[in-house]
Amino acid sequence: MNVHTYEKVWLIGALVLIVGFIVTITYGSVGLGIAMVDDSEETIEPSELDEDERFADPRVEQVGENEYEAYVVAQTFMFQPDPVEVPAGSEVTFYVTSRDVIHSYSVAGTNINTMVIPGEVAVMTVEFDEAGEYGVVCNEYCGSGHHTMEGELHVVPDEEFDMTELSVEADDEVETGDEATIEVDVENGMLEALETTVTLEIGDEALAENVTIDGGETETTTFTVDTADLGEGDHDWTVTVDDYEDSGTLTVVDELEEDDDDE
Ligand code: CUA
Repeated sequence: MNVHTYEKVWLIGALVLIVGFIVTITYGSVGLGIAMVDDSEETIEPSELDEDERFADPRVEQVGENEYEAYVVAQTFMFQPDPVEVPAGSEVTFYVTSRDVIHSYSVAGTNINTMVIPGEVAVMTVEFDEAGEYGVVCNEYCGSGHHTMEGELHVVPDEEFDMTELSVEADDEVETGDEATIEVDVENGMLEALETTVTLEIGDEALAENVTIDGGETETTTFTVDTADLGEGDHDWTVTVDDYEDSGTLTVVDELEEDDDDE
């Protein structure tokens, strides 16, 4: 049988393409681990995310020296947490799920891109070598606000990264002569212990206390302020822990007004 030369060229070309496609798909699924979100993965009830141990509080968690896990919830039309903050030089496993309809978690300029399907948890492990800020977009049409659905991913320099959370509970109003208390909770979300100083500035006074907070723990520091020294009036205060700050105003009055439930 005589096959025309051009016919042969086309046949060989088509065969090379077919083999090439099979090789790239195999490499993608085996070598790069690119896969569809499918039923073989764990499932989750979208209406019960608030009771779910991982997704009730969307967050980044440290699980190893340079290993983190990010629990992300997508919903119309936002991502939580936003921004997601991780340190450079880390390996981060993202667990992403949806509260309502199909979204996506796509980090612009990177190959981080997954569909986010209600009922499914998309899992991706990513290494971040360098610091940078990325935009996160949803690229599955999800409703009228789809084009506004965006978030941010911050890869911060390792030495600037921490997972400290500061919350302050303070008296608003106290009588002259009484003590005012300002209670400072510092949470250390990292695995390693945190040594730091909690400072309170109020009026001309500055109080400081050194604290050591174990990994995953919260330390409470209570400052008491003698209002006789402050005098009557409004006094602004500032609590500082590393780069974190909270502030408020303490009012010292001559006599507290009686609480009166009747009008
Ligand atoms: Cu969410 Cu589009």
